Amino acid sequence: MKLQYQLNAAFTALLLIIMAVTGYVIYSLILNVLIQDEQRQLEQKGEILVSVLDEAFISRENLIGFNEFLEEQDLQLFLYDRGQNSVLFSTLPTPVVTGLFMNNDFSDTNEELWAYGNEKFVTSRILFVPKSLGLELILLTPLQDLQMVQQDFIQRMLIVFIIGAIVAIGLSYFLTRKLVTPLTSLKYQLKKIEKRDFTKIEPIRATGEVKEVAQSVYDMANELQRYINSQQTFFQNASHELKTPLMTIQGYAEGIKEGVFDEQDKEKGLEVIVSEVNRLKKIINEMILLAKLESEEKSYRKETILLSHLIDKVRERALPISAEKGLDIQIDVQESIEIIGDEERLLRALLNLAFNGIRHGHSMLLLTATQNNGQIQIIVEDDGEGISEDLIPHIFHRFVKGKSGETGLGLAIARAIIEQSGGKIEVGKSTLGGAKFTLIFPSMTKE
Ligand SMILES: Nc1ncnc2c1ncn2[C@@H]1O[C@H](COP(=O)(O)OP(=O)(O)O)[C@@H](O)[C@H]1O
Ligand SMILES: [Mg+2]
Repeated sequence: MKLQYQLNAAFTALLLIIMAVTGYVIYSLILNVLIQDEQRQLEQKGEILVSVLDEAFISRENLIGFNEFLEEQDLQLFLYDRGQNSVLFSTLPTPVVTGLFMNNDFSDTNEELWAYGNEKFVTSRILFVPKSLGLELILLTPLQDLQMVQQDFIQRMLIVFIIGAIVAIGLSYFLTRKLVTPLTSLKYQLKKIEKRDFTKIEPIRATGEVKEVAQSVYDMANELQRYINSQQTFFQNASHELKTPLMTIQGYAEGIKEGVFDEQDKEKGLEVIVSEVNRLKKIINEMILLAKLESEEKSYRKETILLSHLIDKVRERALPISAEKGLDIQIDVQESIEIIGDEERLLRALLNLAFNGIRHGHSMLLLTATQNNGQIQIIVEDDGEGISEDLIPHIFHRFVKGKSGETGLGLAIARAIIEQSGGKIEVGKSTLGGAKFTLIFPSMTKE
C-alpha cells in the first residue's frame, strides 16, 4: 500500500476511535446530567410555588382555593399528604394518578424516578411549612421529554463529528500529499541515478528532513558521477600509456624478425625494446602500487618516525642519481621532530618528490623540515624551470606529466600516501626558481 494511504488510514482509524469513545462517554453521561438539571429546576419551581401557597393558604381548610390555584399552573404535580399516605390533589388525569400511586411508594423520599407503564417520571418533592403538617408538593417531568433532549443533542453531536471528520480527513489527505509528493519525485530521481542519467536529475521541492535527504542524494550522485568519470579517464590514460611502448616494441621486434634492419639499427632497436620494457614495468608497478594504496587503507602501518632519519634515508637513496647529474642535495631539518606514519611508504613519497627535483633541478635540491604552531612542514624544492601554470591544477592527477615526464604517476602516489598519513601536499614556486612541494602534517609531540 502506498505510504500516503497508509498514513491516511492510520489517521482516520485514530480519529474514528477517539470520536467513538468520546461519543459513548457523552451519551452515557448526558441523561444523568439532564435528570439532575431537571430536578434542580423542578425544585426551584416547587419552592416558589410552596412559598406562594404558604402565604396564601395557611391552613388546610382552604383546599378548594388551593386546588384552583394549582390547576392554573402548567405543571404536572401532586399534593400529597404524608400522614395519611393519600393524594389530595393532582393536575394529572385520574388513571395516571392511580397508576402512579399503585406502582410507586410515595412515602419513599429517596426514590427519584417513578414508573408507570412504559413511562418514567423525574420527581422533586418539597414540604410545606410547618413541616409537621406533612403536606408535600411533588413535581414531575416525564423522562421521555429528557430522552428527546438527549436524542436531539446526540444528533447534533453526530453532525458536528461527521463534518469535523470530513474536514480532518481532507486536511490529513492534503498534508500527507504534501509530505509524500517530494518522496515520490525523489524516487524518480534515484531511478535516474540508477540508470546513470546524471544530467537528467532535477531538483525537487521539499522542506525539512526530506530536503536534507534530497541534498544527500544529489551529493551522492555528484560523487558517483565524479568517480565514474575519473575511472573512465584512468582506463583511457592507462591503456594509452601501456599501448604506446607496446607498439614501439612491436615495431622493432617485427622489423628485426623480418630482417629489415641493418646491424646498427638492429642494435639500436634492441636497446629501445629493453628501455621500453623497463618503462612498461615501471608503469605497471606504479599502477599496482597506486591501486594498493587506494584499496588497502588498513594495511597502513602507524609507527613513530624520527624525521631526520627519514630525510637521511632519502638523501642516501637519491645520492647516486644526483651525483651523476652533478646536483647538490642540501638538507635543513630541525632535530627531534617525530611523525607518525608508515615509514616505507613515506620514504617512497619523499623519494618520488626528490627524484623529480633532481631530474628538473639545475644545480640543487633542498629538503627542509620544521615544526611550528602544531604543524610539521616538509619542503622539497629545486632550482629548475618549475611547473607550468596550466599543469599546476592537475599535477597530482594520475598520468598527468610534462614534456620530459616519465609515467605521470609519481605525484599521484605521493599524494595518496601523504593523505593517508593524515597530511596534505601543496605545490608552488620556490624562491630558488623551481618547483616547491610543501607537505603538512599535524604535529604529534610538543614543540
Ligand atoms: N620538481 C619539478 N620541477 C618541474 N616539474 C616537475 C617537478 N616535479 C614534477 N614536475 C612535473 O610534474 C609531472 C608529473 O610528475 P610525476 O607525477 O612525478 O610524473 P613523472 O615524474 O613520471 O613525469 C612531471 O612530468 C613534470 O612535468
Ligand atoms: Mg616522478
